[in-house]
Amino acid sequence: MARFITDLKRTHSCGQLTRAEVGAEVILYGWINNRRDHGGAVFIDLRDREGVTQVVFEQDVRPEVHDLAGQLRLEYCVGVRGKVVSRGGNVNPKLKTGEIEVHATDLEIFNRSEPVPFQVEDKLDTAEEKRLQYRFLDLRRAPMQKTLMTRARVNHLTRNHFTGKGFLELETPFMVKYTPGGARNFLVPSRLNPGKFYALAESPQLFKQLYMIAGFDKYFQIVRCFRDEDLRVDRQPEFTQIDVEMSFVQQDDIFDVIEGLIVTLWKEVLGVEIPRPFQRMPFYESMDRYGNDKPDLRFGMEHVVLTGLVKEHGGGGVPLLKEAVEGTGIVKAMKVPASANLSRTEIDKLEEYVKGMGSKGLARAKVGEGGEWTQSPFAKTITAGLRAAVNAACGAVPGDLLLFQFGKESVVQTVMANLRLHLGKRLGLIPEYGSGGTWRFLWVVNPPLFEFDDESGQWAAAHHAFTRPHDECLQYLETDPGKVDCYRYDCVLNGFEIGGGSIRLHDPVVQARVFKAMGISDEDARSKFGFLLDALKMGAPPHGGIALGMDRLVMLLTGAESLRDVVAWPKTQKGTDLMTGAPGDVDAKQLRDLHVKSTVEQPR
Ligand code: AMO
Repeated sequence: MARFITDLKRTHSCGQLTRAEVGAEVILYGWINNRRDHGGAVFIDLRDREGVTQVVFEQDVRPEVHDLAGQLRLEYCVGVRGKVVSRGGNVNPKLKTGEIEVHATDLEIFNRSEPVPFQVEDKLDTAEEKRLQYRFLDLRRAPMQKTLMTRARVNHLTRNHFTGKGFLELETPFMVKYTPGGARNFLVPSRLNPGKFYALAESPQLFKQLYMIAGFDKYFQIVRCFRDEDLRVDRQPEFTQIDVEMSFVQQDDIFDVIEGLIVTLWKEVLGVEIPRPFQRMPFYESMDRYGNDKPDLRFGMEHVVLTGLVKEHGGGGVPLLKEAVEGTGIVKAMKVPASANLSRTEIDKLEEYVKGMGSKGLARAKVGEGGEWTQSPFAKTITAGLRAAVNAACGAVPGDLLLFQFGKESVVQTVMANLRLHLGKRLGLIPEYGSGGTWRFLWVVNPPLFEFDDESGQWAAAHHAFTRPHDECLQYLETDPGKVDCYRYDCVLNGFEIGGGSIRLHDPVVQARVFKAMGISDEDARSKFGFLLDALKMGAPPHGGIALGMDRLVMLLTGAESLRDVVAWPKTQKGTDLMTGAPGDVDAKQLRDLHVKSTVEQPR
């Protein structure tokens, strides 16, 4: 007798058969997605990654096969042989294979399934913990299969894109030397070198630069990166970058290659044409208008910076505002149009929301017919001059609501940025995925090289110390580091940073000045980055690069809400894998071998 797998090879997938195959004998393999027993006939939906096909086992065709089919339950894994038959008028328009069904003559049960903890359905209301615990079942669901197929497609298209342009796909080590700065690293103890640790690479950054110095010219890699960060919906501790580095290029050359890739991905995966070139916005403009460097441009509600106006009006009769601008503080407002019709209770809720982010409160003003303000802590004392100037700057008309933040810049920016997004969602201003949702790509360019670190009282690299400053800013390196802008860029899509990179600093003389500005001594620099500094001195070419967050790209392409939905085997917010139980205990001997002592009591 012919046997499945050995003799009876699969002829079609479960998503393939149409009217064209009617009359053909076919062999399908898959899982039982659904089962109905109508006495004389058992109906199953057979599922594989390509789709679902209805299979019928009729008693009067082969009674023993019909009887075996009677044993089928959800998620049994089976092989079926049968004939493709038209469903006639009973077409199921929801299925790709809805025009036909397979009338089975043979069946083999490869494996039975215990009752499953949740049904393999497109829409689930099962708790995420359960889905992650039984991820292999969760991944059987069509939306997850589709997402991972998109991921595979993105990988494939990316390789084609770069290889076609003469890039070499080269690998870099995961176990690297720990270098301070940047993200927090995972550490790996070295058994062979007692007391020493490797770091898991947070990115291939230094190695890809060394590839350029070694003459490889154009590098790319689809690479896993590891960061021990606090996790959010768009962060995983291990994630994948599309990492790129090029020699003899300037910023525009990098943008060109990356835009080309993104346009291809959106066209091939979604059939959407993305216009080029992408919009560009200077970093400071983005901060002013949106409060951060990854603005969602799909809706308005821009911020208005009032710091200058308040200064001009000497505080305009409002002591709190005066105080804010006398130091290094800033003042910002955002206009909520009259049409939003926010009630007092809703505004009070907003106030609670901003307080949760470290703000002292949410000052506001309702604009009246003559431009006067009501419901405002400023209403009594503000000068008519400042009030009119603020109304004009915000473009406020009667009925509008103005919301204010003032004080320490970092707090004001964060609060206002989040408030804008919160209101954008609340007021339904952000198009939903699939609703012809707009794709607003943006390059945020020319940020400052340094950030002042309040804690250390030092200038620190805003990104990393190997970013090239603008030539015209070099004069400020010693005198006014805050004024030094650099060739760093972020690629932003709909409020998510999907990539970032820079033109690198390949000139050792400028490099030394940058370290000096950061208060890093020559010795310190040598002990941290000696190998790179040496390499930069041996004919380093001008070079630059970028890394795209591959998981984030797929999340946005598929409309997923969390990175966990586009990573096959993700970690939870607490960094755990609910399926395998990682991170787990290890026994005392293993720790001894690694020369590691835990301060947490270990099982013996
Ligand atoms: P950066 O740190 O900006 O740059 O990272 C590049 C992109 O990677 C994505 N990303 C993440 N995605 C998921 N989970 C995370 N924890 C996570 N962290 C970052 C983001 C980000 O834009 N070496 C530089 C690149 C360069 O300069 O060439 C780098 O790693 O989408």
